[in-house]
Amino acid sequence: MTLLTDRYRRPIDYLRVSITDRCNLRCIYCMPFGGVSKLTHDDILSYEEFLRLVKVAIKMGISKVRLTGGEPLVRRGVTDFCRHLAALPGMKSLSLTTNGVLLEELAQEIYQAGIRRINISLDTLQPERFSRMTCRDEFDRVWRGIQTAEKVGFHPIKINVVVMGGINDDEVVQLAQLTKDRPYHIRFIEFMQFINNDRLIPHHFVSAEDILGRLHSVAPLEQVTSRHSNGPARHFRWPDAQGMIGIISPISHHFCPSCNRIRLTADGKLRNCLFSDRELDIKLPLRQGATDAELAQLLTESIINKPEKHALQSDLFRKCQNRPMVAIGG
Ligand code: 5AD
Ligand code: SF4
Repeated sequence: MTLLTDRYRRPIDYLRVSITDRCNLRCIYCMPFGGVSKLTHDDILSYEEFLRLVKVAIKMGISKVRLTGGEPLVRRGVTDFCRHLAALPGMKSLSLTTNGVLLEELAQEIYQAGIRRINISLDTLQPERFSRMTCRDEFDRVWRGIQTAEKVGFHPIKINVVVMGGINDDEVVQLAQLTKDRPYHIRFIEFMQFINNDRLIPHHFVSAEDILGRLHSVAPLEQVTSRHSNGPARHFRWPDAQGMIGIISPISHHFCPSCNRIRLTADGKLRNCLFSDRELDIKLPLRQGATDAELAQLLTESIINKPEKHALQSDLFRKCQNRPMVAIGG
């Protein structure tokens, strides 16, 4: 298997696949105010098309795949799709990012299909606040979904918290304290700007250092450096805690030098950077009968053109996206 590297010698072994742009929540940091124009059935790649592309990617050296959305669990047939993906030779890790609404129902079958690693979004422990942040009254279902995922055996269970000043930042400590007696990784994510939410950023941005400061003041955190330190999160833990705390700070700390990923959107575009507007269409060539070698060439082209880094920090308050997060998939 060839090791894929981009022009800055970063090894690329991770593909994030958004299987739908639909979602059963409306998180204020993610969804555009006016809603999104939904893609039609034809716009969206079929599971067969995704499988073909993932197979090509694996042949090129991709070994880790994460399914995202929208909300991936709302797409019909997702369990069978997971089973096929998990069975692909060369697939080392297949993981899922979900908002947890459908987990109580689907955790068992998704686990049986071969998924072990799961990220669940949960920004608050207060049901009413949850409704305000997601525009849906689903806290209880999500909470039960998390418990079900734990019972079924998913590991690790990572909980993603987008921290918004004046909205949920007063819960940072309480959320982090879940790690004391549960094996969860609680990951605090700096609120990022996208085309839909740039008006909110100046009012609600909280820096990673601010978040860390609040946690440190409760009890000193130990930094964890281990195999877990790959990827965008910095890890910490409180002594004797079962779980870990992760800090993801795309704005205040570039993690671009260690970026190992590319993305495939539900409508068949390759994206080589979360913050870059440049996309490469792979759907049309795929549907026009491209060979595996031709598809591989497109993947290579996307990887070669991966930007060195984003400019978010310098352009903190500037809009720099052609898609809202819900259409990229985190
Ligand atoms: N800033 C930071 N994280 C975001 N997510 C969605 N929108 C934003 C944003 N504006 C994260 C959610 C979810 C994942 C899919 O993307 O926390 O876990
Ligand atoms: Fe849906 Fe996730 Fe966006 Fe929330 S963050 S609206 S759950 S896609």
